[in-house]
Amino acid sequence: MRVLVTGGAGYIGSHTLVELMGQGHEVCVVDSYANGSPEALARVQTLSNGTLEAHEADIRDTDRLTTIARAFAPEAVVHFAGLKAVGESQRQPVEYYDVNITGTLSLLRAMEAAGCPRVIFSSSATVYGEPVYLPYDEAHPTAPTSVYGQTKRMAEQILTDWAAARPEAAVMLLRYFNPVGAHPSGRIGEDPQGVPDNLMPYLAQVATGQRPYLQIWGDDYPTPDGTGIRDYIHVVDLARAHVAALDRAAAVTGAEVYNIGTGRGSSVREMLDAFSRAVGRDLPAQVMPRRPGDIAEMQADATKAATQLRWKAELDVGDMVASIWTWQSANPKGYRT
Ligand code: NAD
Ligand code: WQD
Repeated sequence: MRVLVTGGAGYIGSHTLVELMGQGHEVCVVDSYANGSPEALARVQTLSNGTLEAHEADIRDTDRLTTIARAFAPEAVVHFAGLKAVGESQRQPVEYYDVNITGTLSLLRAMEAAGCPRVIFSSSATVYGEPVYLPYDEAHPTAPTSVYGQTKRMAEQILTDWAAARPEAAVMLLRYFNPVGAHPSGRIGEDPQGVPDNLMPYLAQVATGQRPYLQIWGDDYPTPDGTGIRDYIHVVDLARAHVAALDRAAAVTGAEVYNIGTGRGSSVREMLDAFSRAVGRDLPAQVMPRRPGDIAEMQADATKAATQLRWKAELDVGDMVASIWTWQSANPKGYRT
C-alpha cells in the first residue's frame, strides 16, 4: 500500500517505517522535526529496501499537507505526529491541543482532499486513567487525567465521528501501553531531548554514566516489590502491530480500538534488574517519593488484537533491555553523536 506516515522521524515512527518497508509498503513521511531527526530517516533508509520519501512540514499546515497528500495519493495514513510529554502538557495545554487536535483535523482535511479513506492512529493507554479493573480491556471506561491524555481521547472521538460519516472509511485506534526498546541493529532507537521523563531512556543514560543513578519514584505501592508495574512493549512488536492494523484497515470499514501491549506487567525493580544484567553490573538507584499522578499498576488485555488483528507481542523484557543497550552504547548522544 501507499502509506503516508506523519511523525515518521520520531521514535515509534522510525521503527514502524522499517517494518512497513520490509513488507513492501511504499512510504512517504511528513515530519516537522520538532522532536524527530532527519538522521533517523537516513538510518531507516540504510536498514530498508525501497525508497523513503520525506517532507519537512507541520501537519497543521493544511495547504502544504494537502499538496503532499495529493501528490503521493496515499491509500492509508499512519498518524504518529504529536506531542507526548504528560508533564509538559499540563504546563502548555494550548500547544498540546493545537498540535494534537488541530493537527489531526488538518490531517483529515488533507486526507479528504486526497481521497484517502484509512488511518491508523497512535493513541495511548493513558486514555483509561485510574483503573476501575485490571487488566484494562478496550471496554474499560476512559477518564484521562492529563491534558495529553485528553488530547488522545478527543482525537479518538474525532476520528470515530469521521469514520461514522464516511461509509468507505477505516480508522484503527491503537492504544499503546509502554513502548520501550530499539531496533536490534542499534541503528535507530529512542532519542529524548533533555532529561528523559520515562523509565527506560533514563536508565539507559544511567548505564552510560550520563546520569548518576535512577530515581525510583516510590516503593510503597501495593505491588509485590512496592514499585510501579507497567506493561512494557518492545517497539519492534509495536511497529509490527501497525502493519497488522493496516491489513485490517484494508479489509474493513468503521472505527476499531485495540490495546497494544503484552498483557504482562513488570515492576520498576524488575526493569532495573533486567537492565543491570544486560549491562553486566548493578546500576545505581535511589528510592524517592512517589511521582504525582502515577498509578500503581497497569496492564493490557491484548486479546482483541490477537483475535482481530492476528497480532501478538513476541519479544520479552530481555529483548527490550538488550536492544536499548545496543542502541545506547553505540549512540550515547542519540542521533547527535
Ligand atoms: P516522538 O516525539 O519521537 O515522535 C513524534 C514525531 O512527530 C516527531 O518526529 C516529531 O518531530 C513529529 N511532530 C511533532 N509535532 C509535529 C507537527 N506539528 N507536525 C509534524 N510533525 C510533528 O514520539 P513517539 O514516542 O514516537 O510517539 C509517536 C506517537 O505515539 C505520538 O502521537 C505519541 O503521543 C504516541 N504514543 C507514544 C507513547 C510513548 O510512550 N512513546 C505511548 C503512547 C502513545
Ligand atoms: C514507568 C514507571 C514510574 C521514571 C508514560 C505516559 C504514558 C505513555 C507512556 C504516551 C512508573 C517509574 C519512571 C523514573 C521511575 N506515553 N519511573 N523513575 O508514566 O507509565 O507512562 O509513558 O502516551 O502516557 O504517562 O511511563 O516510563 O514514565 O514510568 O521510577 O525516572 O517507572 O513511577 O512506575 P508511564 P514512565
